[in-house]
Amino acid sequence: MKVTIVGAGAVGASCAEYVAIKNFASEVVLIDIKENYAEGKAMDLMQTSSLLGFDTKITGSTNDYSKTAGSDIAVITSGIPRKPGMTREELIGINADIVKSVSSSLIEHSPEVTIIVVSNPMDTMTYLVHKTTNLPKNKIIGMGGALDSARFKYRISEALDCPSSDVDGMVIGGHSDTGMVPLTRLATRNSVPVSKFLSEDRISQISEDTKVGGATLTKMLGTSAWYAPGAAVSSLVQAIACDQKKMFPCSALLEGEYGLNDLCIGVPVILGKNGIEQIVEIELDDAEKAKLKESAEGVSKTNGLLDVKS
Ligand code: LAC
Repeated sequence: MKVTIVGAGAVGASCAEYVAIKNFASEVVLIDIKENYAEGKAMDLMQTSSLLGFDTKITGSTNDYSKTAGSDIAVITSGIPRKPGMTREELIGINADIVKSVSSSLIEHSPEVTIIVVSNPMDTMTYLVHKTTNLPKNKIIGMGGALDSARFKYRISEALDCPSSDVDGMVIGGHSDTGMVPLTRLATRNSVPVSKFLSEDRISQISEDTKVGGATLTKMLGTSAWYAPGAAVSSLVQAIACDQKKMFPCSALLEGEYGLNDLCIGVPVILGKNGIEQIVEIELDDAEKAKLKESAEGVSKTNGLLDVKS
């Protein structure tokens, strides 16, 4: 199992670290445009291998995609991250050109690759990969929902003062401050609805905190977060690499599911060796349906800024 991670910045390097620690991939290739940067990150990570006990070989390369040849899975984190006060949508111009050229270079050397898009605005960048490559739709996945759901579960566990392993919950919709739809109605603590433990006000506060989860950290850190994004991508990589058939909310191309068409947006999917093996259509109530529709309108509007034919 060979995994390429394009962009050796904080998210890419964290993803490489978590993939290596989980020890399921034989090789991780880090690629970056900055001279020697990916090589340095790879060397630093490899020097943890005897300490942390992993066998995954991590290598780095300055933009030489021949090194990525034969990758099973590729993660695109390249592009610029947002700064405090910026929305993810503001990154579209510069990141669209980068994601387009990166995905084409990846496919040139690994025609069978499955691509996971992390670069923002993520749903639109995922749609761009669909529009500009010939990969089948099951092989193009956007990472947002897995991260947003992890942040949602963290906020619930914080409110309940319990471990997050007691909590189950999911965020669907667009990966944006206004587009996320935390499914509070379905969130549970060991199968018991969280409404049993928390007031309506507290639950709606959790929902709001979840939606601005990335923006809050960007303000605190001065740049976009990386540990949780890196961990979330590594979980998706593992689900595909190990054919786990695990369910995550991911940005998937919809063709009628949830009444939506011709866009990528976060919905529950089953991930296995074929990438997105199934889009799971869950029963939403009227309020949730309305929120998802509104979120989809926002994503489609951002997609409209792309220079691609729909
Ligand atoms: C975040 C970035 C990865 O939400 O979009 O932290």
